[in-house]
Amino acid sequence: YEREDGKPARQRLLVVANRLPVSAVRKGEDSWSLEISAGGLVSALLGVKEFEARWIGWAGVNVVDEVGQKSLTEALAEKRCIPVFLTEKIVHQYYNGYCNNILWPLFHYLGLPQEDRLATTRGFQSQFDSYQEANQMFADVVNKIYEEGDIVWCHDYHLMFLPQCLKKFNKKMKVGWFLHTPFPSSEIHRTLPSRSELLRAVLAADLVGFHTYDYARHFVSACTRILGLEATPEGVETPPEGAENQGKLTRVAAFPIGIDSDRFIRALDLPKVQGHIKDLQDRFKGRKVMLGVDRLDMIKGIPQKLLAFEKFLEENDGWRDKVVLLQIAVPTRTDVPEYQKLTSQVHEIVGRINGRFGSLTAVPIHHLDRTLDFQALCALYAVTDVALVTSLRDGMNLVSYEFVACQEKKKGVLILSEFAGAAQSLGAGALLVNPWNITEVAKAISKALNMKSPEREKRHRHNFHHVTTHTAQEWAETFVSELNDTVVEAQLRTKQ
Ligand code: G6P
Repeated sequence: YEREDGKPARQRLLVVANRLPVSAVRKGEDSWSLEISAGGLVSALLGVKEFEARWIGWAGVNVVDEVGQKSLTEALAEKRCIPVFLTEKIVHQYYNGYCNNILWPLFHYLGLPQEDRLATTRGFQSQFDSYQEANQMFADVVNKIYEEGDIVWCHDYHLMFLPQCLKKFNKKMKVGWFLHTPFPSSEIHRTLPSRSELLRAVLAADLVGFHTYDYARHFVSACTRILGLEATPEGVETPPEGAENQGKLTRVAAFPIGIDSDRFIRALDLPKVQGHIKDLQDRFKGRKVMLGVDRLDMIKGIPQKLLAFEKFLEENDGWRDKVVLLQIAVPTRTDVPEYQKLTSQVHEIVGRINGRFGSLTAVPIHHLDRTLDFQALCALYAVTDVALVTSLRDGMNLVSYEFVACQEKKKGVLILSEFAGAAQSLGAGALLVNPWNITEVAKAISKALNMKSPEREKRHRHNFHHVTTHTAQEWAETFVSELNDTVVEAQLRTKQ
């Protein structure tokens, strides 16, 4: 991430996330193939030219031997990535267990695990211990490479303990933490056995960021109600701990993320994407295309979306062979039993609907359990008439942004869950729905398919403007410069 003018970057930004933007697959004792994922965070940080970014995280593989660890570290160094090596047991307890079976569903209002509650409750403490242990392992790597003046940006629910671990090592470190999921109402957070420890650990950061004002408000309420702390318009105040310690203000604010919209818009002109577009148009000629792109996750509301589509087909005979729903469901966290159950449930519903409404030549739902490459995805967005983003809860949901970026020609309609963070920015252009209300979603599908061009144009214009002006780069720049300012202000306050 050197500056384009060739000058050295001024400050180092250490980005710490559970997953590196590169995943590694072992090819031999000391050889690796690295697959780069050009996700939102990567493009966001590519835009932050003032800083030289380094990534610290898990490469998605468990490497226990020294030769492997050394060679992977060297291979990743070329990509400015530094691996954290987790053991199989830690991955199971921390990542599959505490992160994805406890925090993830809870933060998305799906509650603590319902089935086998006793077993979960018994296993809770050891998962929580592993979570803390894993966070310390991330901290150890950061502490080793930290140099004075570096900025450390911790990401997501996997690393809520990290700010505290880092500040214990060095009080002067500039530490920010950003949550990519919703932060739930304090009444939900209260149910978590480790509610206070997590809040205190996050409050060790200098700046705490969320996608929306509501999530920030929930976090502040949790701190005041559960920890009994004072809230100020700027954040949360922690009283002094020891005689010579100063009290601390942790700034809490909303920083809604965006996408690298230019990357999507530019891709549409590529010959390969144009080729895909033509193929898709031929393939679905005479039918309106509806699209869903989701990780195969409970929070995405895929079964509810399919049931709504089924209801629409039941009630709208005339549309049966004139519309197709393409559902891309990207497999994720496949070791967690809840995700395995969801896959079977979705397959069963798709099978039933296709059996009911399909013909010898066409089926109403094309369901794919896989990821698509970037160019195929852009083409799919471009040919879509109606996108269905019906998450039950979602931190932001950038699929909705990506769809809008690719719709300058078509001006298709976005049906968007009111429980996605994106509803706060794209709400005026989208058709907002309650994804739990199948009747309402079925009606929205009908409205979207029948919507006339002037209204589609007006709605698209609003959303396109938002998506192209509130980009990922702007998000990252704002967070990082605010973190810098926050620390400087705090230092001035301490001197006064
Ligand atoms: C969400 C989380 C990310 C996570 C991603 C993929 O977007 O906020 O932190 O990386 O899901 O999930 P995975 O478990 O595969 O990393």
